[in-house]
Amino acid sequence: MTADFRHFYQKTWAERTDIVAQQAHLTPAEQALFKQYYLEQHHEIIENYLTDYPLPMGLAVNFVVDGVNRIIPMVTEEPSVIAAASNGAKIVKRAGGFTTTLNQREMIGQIVLEHLADPEQTATIIEQHAAALLDVADAAHPSLKKRGGGARSLRTRVLGQGYLSIDLFVDVQAAMGANMLNSMLEAVAKSIGVMTKTDALMSILSNYATASLVKAECDIPVGLLQAGRYSGELVAQKMASASTVAQLDPYRATTHNKGIMNGIDALAIASGNDWRALESGAHAYAAKDGQYRGMSKWTTDGTTLHGELELPLPVGIVGGSIKINELAQLNQRLLGIQTAGDLERIMIAVGLAQNLAALRALVTTGIQQGHMHLQLKSLAMAAGATAAELPKILQQLELAPQQDLATTQRLIADMRQIKEETDD
Ligand code: MEV
Repeated sequence: MTADFRHFYQKTWAERTDIVAQQAHLTPAEQALFKQYYLEQHHEIIENYLTDYPLPMGLAVNFVVDGVNRIIPMVTEEPSVIAAASNGAKIVKRAGGFTTTLNQREMIGQIVLEHLADPEQTATIIEQHAAALLDVADAAHPSLKKRGGGARSLRTRVLGQGYLSIDLFVDVQAAMGANMLNSMLEAVAKSIGVMTKTDALMSILSNYATASLVKAECDIPVGLLQAGRYSGELVAQKMASASTVAQLDPYRATTHNKGIMNGIDALAIASGNDWRALESGAHAYAAKDGQYRGMSKWTTDGTTLHGELELPLPVGIVGGSIKINELAQLNQRLLGIQTAGDLERIMIAVGLAQNLAALRALVTTGIQQGHMHLQLKSLAMAAGATAAELPKILQQLELAPQQDLATTQRLIADMRQIKEETDD
């Protein structure tokens, strides 16, 4: 029988879980998962709430950003990400740490007009009234101005085919500011409607946050990069080559950038930020000259490896779901941040550390070596190895011709059998 999902949003939580259980023929144990991860206050965050979906949170260490030691809470389901970030940060720490630059922190919103016979003329009219329109924006959110923020400037861009974008730049202070900005934009759009006798097609913030750029850099003496049989100088050269390949080839750039976003997203989630917004902005910025390229650049003069990464990272430390997410608040304490800018600086450093570790591994031992160890550990645990048995089982697994569940279970059984015999 198909369950009835009509008016699902109006049902109580118990009714909803019953309907779902009926539809998917859930066992009592499966139904119990809804209860296990349930958090009352999360009804306020999303619609049709059932339960929470847990993701592991860990801590990356060794970060020195602008001379300050930082620990980094990261939420990710991917093994090796936190180890890689900590590893990259450790090398940079020995080299004096990351330095960051943040010149401006404004959000951009767009009002788009359509069907304009003369977009240039409309743009001129709007620009002539820019000051008044900024006042309209501020009046739509007076508390922001009181806190030192507010609308800062306005520009117009003729998009072609009769479309015009009016871009509003707003200092949103400590928030990510999407809601604030959207209500300011709608107020400005109304005034523009009266002024130009055109209804706006839409008013919405842009995730291409080019007025919230932040940059991390590091300079590493090549000796610190030595890995196994590879000299530091060779590793530096190979990392610079890997960086060049990511500039030339979108196939490699995509993976290169995925590695960077492994770190940025994990911190974005841990700090209660909208990682889809950061993702879309970062990838758009990676294609700013018309070709999709690696987000970071590594160069070497033979003695030092220089790394840099610049991205739009318009994060917030108040507002949105942060106010009801106790862990996001706790993570701000772990990070020791006071401002949204502090978080941006740390986040960009995490991206660069992640990329450093990935490239160094890729051009030397390969990525699998580190991954394999963690994968074998998960396999041994899934096969029932105890913490005390793990080191020995891992040693045996590494040498085993097949590394699957059955082999691991057999190795554990053999080990226990031998132990029993020697104990007797
Ligand atoms: C895996 O999640 C990320 C890497 O593929 C990044 C890279 O290739 O640079 C290791």
